[in-house]
Amino acid sequence: MTMSPDSSTIVFKDIGSMSQEAAELFAQNAEIALKERGRVLVALSGGRTPEQLFQLLSKPPYALSIPWEQTHFFWCDERLVPPNHPESNFGQAFRFLFSKVKIPGGNLHRIRGEIDPDQAVEAYREILKSFSDGQQKWPRFDLAFLGLGADGHTASLFPGTINSEEKASPVLAVTADYQERPAWRVTLTPLVFNSARNVIFMVSGKDKAYAVNMTRNGPPEPVRWPAQRIKPVEGKITWLLDDNAASH
Ligand code: 6PG
Repeated sequence: MTMSPDSSTIVFKDIGSMSQEAAELFAQNAEIALKERGRVLVALSGGRTPEQLFQLLSKPPYALSIPWEQTHFFWCDERLVPPNHPESNFGQAFRFLFSKVKIPGGNLHRIRGEIDPDQAVEAYREILKSFSDGQQKWPRFDLAFLGLGADGHTASLFPGTINSEEKASPVLAVTADYQERPAWRVTLTPLVFNSARNVIFMVSGKDKAYAVNMTRNGPPEPVRWPAQRIKPVEGKITWLLDDNAASH
């Protein structure tokens, strides 16, 4: 493991050690949040990258030490398919993690991929509002885990356009083509990520190296590289990369 001069970037030899660090960060920040605010608010992403993190959290020591009863889970984005569909982000987290730990079902605040997108947005907006700390109409997440696509997308914020509602709304319905994954999606917007206490990007694989480099070191092109729009105002951003993703 090597630390780059930017202390919020850590490069690992493989996705296994990267996932281990993500699990540690999860546990540490959950402990802080529980002590300071009595609950833990977490937003998860889909994609292949977080699967090992979910598996680690589902087993001891984390399965026993995470305060599941006080931890509430949300999703950074969802593909609009039913929750038991193989491409559902909620379904993935449920299979790898939630079916294996003692968490109350009421702590899982999924985006309803099985209903009309506008209704799913409205329903999620209401849930987000009910977890607001009074400052804004959405929760201030203790942890938001994000991935990065080879094309530079993060959550379901895709390159090419910025939805005009992105600056006003915490949640949006969008469509996008990426690796034959479901095109209709609902996503949180940078408003939400930028008010989080911790944003943790997890990126693995050579196919991501160019996007990682352009997002981090390229000129400001927030339309082309959507993850450049993620800049927590009073929070910390941590990039966990494997060697391949950091290779540019
Ligand atoms: C989704 C995601 C998405 C994901 C990236 C990276 O629903 O697809 O939340 O933003 O994080 O596409 O996916 P991989 O981890 O599979 O590369």
